[in-house]
Amino acid sequence: MNWNLRLEIERDHEAVENLTREAFWDVYKPGCDEHLLAHKLRKAKAFVPALDYVVEHDRRILGNIMYSRAKVVDAQGTGHEVLTFGPLSVLPAHQKEGIGSALVRHTLKLAEAMGFKAILIFGNPAYYHRFGFENAEKYRITTSDGSNFEPFMALELYENALQGITGKFYEDPVFHVDPKELEAFEKRFPYKEKHITDTQLK
Ligand SMILES: CC(C)(COP(=O)(O)OP(=O)(O)OC[C@H]1O[C@@H](n2cnc3c(N)ncnc32)[C@H](O)[C@@H]1OP(=O)(O)O)[C@@H](O)C(=O)NCCC(=O)NCCS
Repeated sequence: MNWNLRLEIERDHEAVENLTREAFWDVYKPGCDEHLLAHKLRKAKAFVPALDYVVEHDRRILGNIMYSRAKVVDAQGTGHEVLTFGPLSVLPAHQKEGIGSALVRHTLKLAEAMGFKAILIFGNPAYYHRFGFENAEKYRITTSDGSNFEPFMALELYENALQGITGKFYEDPVFHVDPKELEAFEKRFPYKEKHITDTQLK
């Protein structure tokens, strides 16, 4: 299938939020909140519009990736800017067609060209190792509560970019979704039943 990778524009917003909801629904918990995150992230100061890409086929949005600035705060309290991405969404009917990989690979190159040091993410290592992401423990970077686990990963955008940068990772506060706000936001979308699924156990 011939699809086109391009920057998100304002008239894509609704389609992207719908696609995000479809992609994440019931995957990590019953229902999801990533569509609200996508909605709010665009207005956050940390948002990086130049890395907000969509994949389109026949005027239909099939995938999207969004990035925001985040930081690693060291023991002295100094913040070091890094990037994080998410939501990363591909319409369920078009998953495993290479769309997610194309979005990741294209934006990794751009982020590097823009001079960012590194990307830290939470995700499935089985998927992200192919792009070079490794457990953040390697760089002595922990989550904000001091934890390390396989799904918390880092990728340097150039050699030794994270040298001397250790500490705790903080995403923008917009990542903390308020359940009441989610409940209100959900009313804009067609009703969808929530389920408990196997993927939520991982
Ligand atoms: C994860 C996601 C973005 C991948 O996009 P995609 O277009 O389906 O992925 P690609 O076609 O580029 O790559 C397919 C490969 O990734 C694997 N893959 C896809 N989703 C995966 C996941 N959640 N965990 C592990 N592997 C995954 C496929 O099995 C396939 O592996 P193979 O190449 O070894 O056969 C997409 O499946 C999605 O939107 N999932 C729901 C939302 C989500 O989990 N987003 C990421 C949050 S961290």
